[in-house]
Amino acid sequence: MPAKPQTLGDWLQWAVRAYGRHKAALGQVAVSAHDEALYLLLHTLGLPLDSKPAVLKRRLTPDEATKVAEIFRRRLEERVPAAYLTREAFLGEHRFYVDERVIIPRSYFLELLPEQIPQWLPAGKPVKRAVDVCTGSGCLAILLAHQFPEAKVDAIELSPDAAAVAKFNLATHGLAKRVLLHRSDVFDTVPAVKYDLILSNPPYVPTRELRGLPEEFTKEPRMALDGGRDGLDIIRKILRQARERLQPHGIVTLEVGGLRAAMDRAFPELDLHWLHTEDGEDCVCVIQAARLLSWRG
Ligand SMILES: C[S@@+](CC[C@H](N)C(=O)[O-])C[C@H]1O[C@@H](n2cnc3c(N)ncnc32)[C@H](O)[C@@H]1O
Repeated sequence: MPAKPQTLGDWLQWAVRAYGRHKAALGQVAVSAHDEALYLLLHTLGLPLDSKPAVLKRRLTPDEATKVAEIFRRRLEERVPAAYLTREAFLGEHRFYVDERVIIPRSYFLELLPEQIPQWLPAGKPVKRAVDVCTGSGCLAILLAHQFPEAKVDAIELSPDAAAVAKFNLATHGLAKRVLLHRSDVFDTVPAVKYDLILSNPPYVPTRELRGLPEEFTKEPRMALDGGRDGLDIIRKILRQARERLQPHGIVTLEVGGLRAAMDRAFPELDLHWLHTEDGEDCVCVIQAARLLSWRG
């Protein structure tokens, strides 16, 4: 490679090495330096994200090179997550506006909502009411609305900052009427409704583990991550309140990161069922209403 990158492909090689030198943390936008750097390059140059490989031969103008160098400086030296630089994040084909007020969407529900979750719901009975608790950017409420076209969806968020981002995303996805946003501490101030489906990707990082997070992750709102002493504070509250909020055939489904063993220990009576994910993380559980009702927690 020439000392000074000329083509987009040169810049990509340069960036991948720079990610390694800077020990950049991955996992917020992509799991490889190559994929994240290519995304940043294409976005910064205003090129389609599905550009053909021939795009790598494109030579950058001096202005473009300056822009690209600056974006990688902010990503690698200031440790700003890529999605906060570009102000966008994707779950599958769905694009969401994001900034520092919300966690960057990266949920296993994208994989599980189309096929596995519906298997836990009564066949032939459309979902009429669904709720996304801890909605952040609103991304999962939007996925719910797409997955269950006949459903009225509620989206619950405590942080006013995050709720403002969710409001914006619901409007740009044309869902401001069908998805109702509530500023509430879990269900505390949400009107009493019985749901077919309660879904949540809540904060679940045990407080003491927050200090060990890579710098990029500390740029996300602490409130989106901090799950209290054992990580289970919000999860306990969701489960307790869900008893009053589920239809008899309803389910709760929770994404809990590394807390699978802790959940099994904390809630043995709930007989948690863990869904299988392609990468084997298996960190999303399902609980049926009958189990919750007989639970004394
Ligand atoms: C892990 S983030 C998930 C955001 C979004 N659902 C996603 O998957 O990207 C958790 C969200 O819960 C919100 N939150 C934290 N405590 C809450 C509470 N007690 N009630 C409602 N929302 C809460 C945070 O502000 C944050 O937006």
